[in-house]
Amino acid sequence: MPEFISVTFPNASTELNPIPNASIDPEYLIRYARTLDDYGYNYTLVPYDSSSYDPFTIGATILSATKNIKIIIALRPNTLYPTVAAKALATLSQLGSGRVVVHFIAGGSDAEQAKEGDFLTKDQRYGRLEEYIRILRRAWDSDEPFDWDGQYYQFKQFSNRVRPTAKIEVSVGGSSDEAYRIGGSLGDIFGLWGEPLKETKEQIDRIYAEAAKAGRADSDRPRIWVTFRPILAETDELAWAKAHRTLDALTTHRANGQGKVPANAPPPQNVGSQRLLDIAARGEVQDRALWYPTVTATNARGASTALVGSPQTITDSLLDYVDLGADLISVRGYDNLNDAIDYGRFVLPKVRQALEERKNEASA
Ligand SMILES: Cc1cc2nc3c(=O)[nH]c(=O)nc-3n(C[C@H](O)[C@H](O)[C@H](O)COP(=O)(O)O)c2cc1C
Repeated sequence: MPEFISVTFPNASTELNPIPNASIDPEYLIRYARTLDDYGYNYTLVPYDSSSYDPFTIGATILSATKNIKIIIALRPNTLYPTVAAKALATLSQLGSGRVVVHFIAGGSDAEQAKEGDFLTKDQRYGRLEEYIRILRRAWDSDEPFDWDGQYYQFKQFSNRVRPTAKIEVSVGGSSDEAYRIGGSLGDIFGLWGEPLKETKEQIDRIYAEAAKAGRADSDRPRIWVTFRPILAETDELAWAKAHRTLDALTTHRANGQGKVPANAPPPQNVGSQRLLDIAARGEVQDRALWYPTVTATNARGASTALVGSPQTITDSLLDYVDLGADLISVRGYDNLNDAIDYGRFVLPKVRQALEERKNEASA
């Protein structure tokens, strides 16, 4: 059965109705998190950006307001010494009865990394990430003080008394060769943005090949996470009208300087975004309902491929990815809270029911 992921919003600002300079609204944050918990989402990503909120304290707030949902803390290794990160994540694990995952970002843009003092090349950033993951695992597992004498980190006699309550799964996101290698060899989860079925299959094959090369058994491969921005309405026709309204709003806000990306933004440096833009150039719709104009309109900044349609169309589209091997499905809309509720009411139960029915048919 696939698990569902959302993404965390700390206030009512959305890409459709941006609230300039909005600060954290604790009531909104808690209401949003409880909504996800109530509708049976399994995880919520707490994203990272150089200019945005601290994911650890946002994460702690979510854990204290919810019962089941797990938080996925996005972490760039340059922002926190690995022993500090190991303890911070283990602290969250104890606070939240083990409901913690960490999602690693090597860093896709030199300019963005430089804002927080990171001047390594991209290959070096991936090398550092590999070392970082090994240190965290050692710190979580080791009873004894240990030394580290690596290429990027050196320390002596680190001793960790803060153990995670449950295993903290390690997720890796990215689409460059080094991302596949490190996520394939070390990740519990591998995060992808929504691409057409063929391209998604190619990426999954690359990740599994790296896992096999690292000696991992098929049963121990990373679980695959795919990400979509569904535009859902009662019928396909209504959903397409809504999709064009969404695109108009994104385009207008970007032109006004209110978008996530400036109008004159340079082409993205990260491979994941470049792949999205290349596919967008081939046509607006791929497969059943995967829609790309939202990618082009936002310079492929972050997860931006839409799925457009009725609950049935969206469900069928998501099932295509489940059949391809996706274990984790991220659905995040544009009208953040209302979309999360709509998916919770009309999509999550439908996907789960379809798979339950298939299972019953198979056993009958
Ligand atoms: C599911 C998913 C979630 C991501 N979340 C973030 C995030 O919160 N912050 C961020 O800076 N990058 C995020 N990224 C972006 C990539 O991790 C980043 O661009 C990567 O380090 C380099 O990508 P590349 O290997 O494709 O060039 C995410 C990527 C994926 C697939």
